[in-house]
Amino acid sequence: MTDLDLKTSTTHPGVSGGWRTPDRLYRLISSPVLRMVLGWDLPRYDLRVISRRPGTVCLEVGSGGGFYTTALKAHLGSENTLIALDPSPSAMRSLQHQLDDVPGARVSFLAGDGCKLPLADDQADTLFYGYSLEEMPDPLAAVREAHRVLRPGGELVLFLWRPVFTRHRRRPVIALLDELFERRRTSAGPQNIRLIYRKQ
Ligand SMILES: C[S@@+](CC[C@H](N)C(=O)[O-])C[C@H]1O[C@@H](n2cnc3c(N)ncnc32)[C@H](O)[C@@H]1O
Repeated sequence: MTDLDLKTSTTHPGVSGGWRTPDRLYRLISSPVLRMVLGWDLPRYDLRVISRRPGTVCLEVGSGGGFYTTALKAHLGSENTLIALDPSPSAMRSLQHQLDDVPGARVSFLAGDGCKLPLADDQADTLFYGYSLEEMPDPLAAVREAHRVLRPGGELVLFLWRPVFTRHRRRPVIALLDELFERRRTSAGPQNIRLIYRKQ
């Protein structure tokens, strides 16, 4: 564990800049070996924090090459629904093929923007962001969208990659998260930060 800059402030200046993973790198960044080295990511283990009462609707925002999507589908199981969303339509198509034979939740694939989610208010029970919030052009708008589509009592699970989401960029985002949601859990390593919030 390392010390974190996760203090709350009351103002929310904009959050600009940052990195955007090109579609052609999705396969590379989904390599289990690379992910072990880079962030100690272990999908089946990491996703145990996601609750799965029958009838759960879970939205994964920024599925990319599906590093977490496969495990999420299996973890949620056949009584639940997973919606996988990423801006790249071609990534969504290839993810659909990849997941065809994986047993588990019903999955819908959406090409869309996390800053303007194509879901109704209070539609999702769980929202999961695996290193995607920090890549969005307007992370503050994305947090507000998360709050809109999550039902009261629902959980927001965020994995953030520290090299991309620098202290300066993440401070206003964490402040807004702390203002809109109740923070339930925080853990951090040298590479990543993991947060769980609840909508009241
Ligand atoms: C580092 S990748 C992580 C992908 C995947 N979750 C994983 O863990 O391998 C970041 C993802 O965020 C997605 N992303 C970037 N901007 C986005 C936006 N505005 N809305 C939704 N997803 C976005 C990218 O397309 C990419 O798939």
